[in-house]
Amino acid sequence: MSSVRATVLGQERARGRNLKLAVGLLLAVLAGPGVSALDNGLALTPTMGWLHWERFTCNVDCQEDPENCISEQLFMQMAELMVSDGWKAVGYEYVCIDDCWLASQRDENGRLKADPKRFPNGIQHLANYVHSKGLKLGIYQDVGTHTCAGYPGSYGYYDIDAQTFADWGVDLLKFDGCNYKNLESLKEGYRHMSFALNNTGRRILYSCEWPLYIRPFQQPNYTEIRQYCNHWRNFGDIFDSWNSVKGILAWTASNQESLVPAAGPGGWNDPDMLVIGNFGLSWEQQITQMALWAIMAAPLFMSNDLRHINPQSKSLLQNKDVIAVNQDPLGKQGYRLRKEKDFEVWERPLSNLAWAVAVLNQKEIGGPQNYVFSISVLGKGLGCSPACHITQILPEKKELGLYEWTSHLKVRVNPTGTVLLKLKPIQNESGCFQLPHLR
Ligand code: GAL
Repeated sequence: MSSVRATVLGQERARGRNLKLAVGLLLAVLAGPGVSALDNGLALTPTMGWLHWERFTCNVDCQEDPENCISEQLFMQMAELMVSDGWKAVGYEYVCIDDCWLASQRDENGRLKADPKRFPNGIQHLANYVHSKGLKLGIYQDVGTHTCAGYPGSYGYYDIDAQTFADWGVDLLKFDGCNYKNLESLKEGYRHMSFALNNTGRRILYSCEWPLYIRPFQQPNYTEIRQYCNHWRNFGDIFDSWNSVKGILAWTASNQESLVPAAGPGGWNDPDMLVIGNFGLSWEQQITQMALWAIMAAPLFMSNDLRHINPQSKSLLQNKDVIAVNQDPLGKQGYRLRKEKDFEVWERPLSNLAWAVAVLNQKEIGGPQNYVFSISVLGKGLGCSPACHITQILPEKKELGLYEWTSHLKVRVNPTGTVLLKLKPIQNESGCFQLPHLR
């Protein structure tokens, strides 16, 4: 147990609270990388699910737009489709409510309540429905006095709100950071809510925006943030546009020294929702988002309309080979390896000494471009040493065959698109690496 974890637990005991979920603690310790994570046993691989914000924002007008307003009906429909259309089968599990679900006031006991018109049966009923489908329910609150959209925030009510969520059967809390008093109270609020959730005894996955809000003023302490959160947003909100996706990628690459070591089983950097299947990304750009979110070991929260999604986007979001890269049990986040003219090469170490490699063509003019590079640069020189088998996963699956360390690979990439590859080292029966022609 690291000294930081010991200190945190010590403080916890000193407050006279019992840390529950001992099984979770054990799992997190067994699975954890160098940096220890929140002790709730959740998010051992990046969380997968659906979150309403990017696609449905704060649409509360159920009179005008009953199909798309934030209401229990919307989440029930999504839950149903997540099962019937194969989303659950490939790993999407959490159906998540974002901002704008609340009534404008707490109830007479100071407890949160959902807007009675839009959630006439209350959140507990919705949680039961979602659970009956074998799925989990996520909800949203804010560390400050009000949510970003102006609904009652959790400030001053952390324990009551955590208990309310647990009583309702909520499985995930997205905790935003708008309207906080000062930096210290923001951090204290994130820590307090983590303890409060833990103290309920219910396993509630804790999704934070802590680093995003403190970054303008100070460098986030990821060792600390990992102690409290299962994932954390670092950067502004995603929009349904290539500009937004490419901005997130550029920002992540330029901060990868601090971000990559922070990620691992139990705690992940969150580059925000997948906007695949909406209006703003071309097919190539959708491929890029899916491939790079897999490389970044990002939580996969789709924000789209599962009732009206085109088959191509659906098959991309349900692509088992890409999901397997995202969910790789080694739990190491990938990084940008090189940037050469318009091309970027990203790589991610996977279990069993395999690697995922993404080649992205940033050029926004012209047609497909060839990119040729030496295999020996991949995987810290070990990805294909002495040889490896390469499978192309995206844009479509293709076996590319055996490559020796000294060889070159040529990929052809469409503008703003990505080619995603998986490299597997060649081994003989006794597990030693061996050149294919020597076998
Ligand atoms: C933002 C947050 C978004 C969404 C929105 C709701 O601050 O980053 O993801 O939750 O608030 O108002």
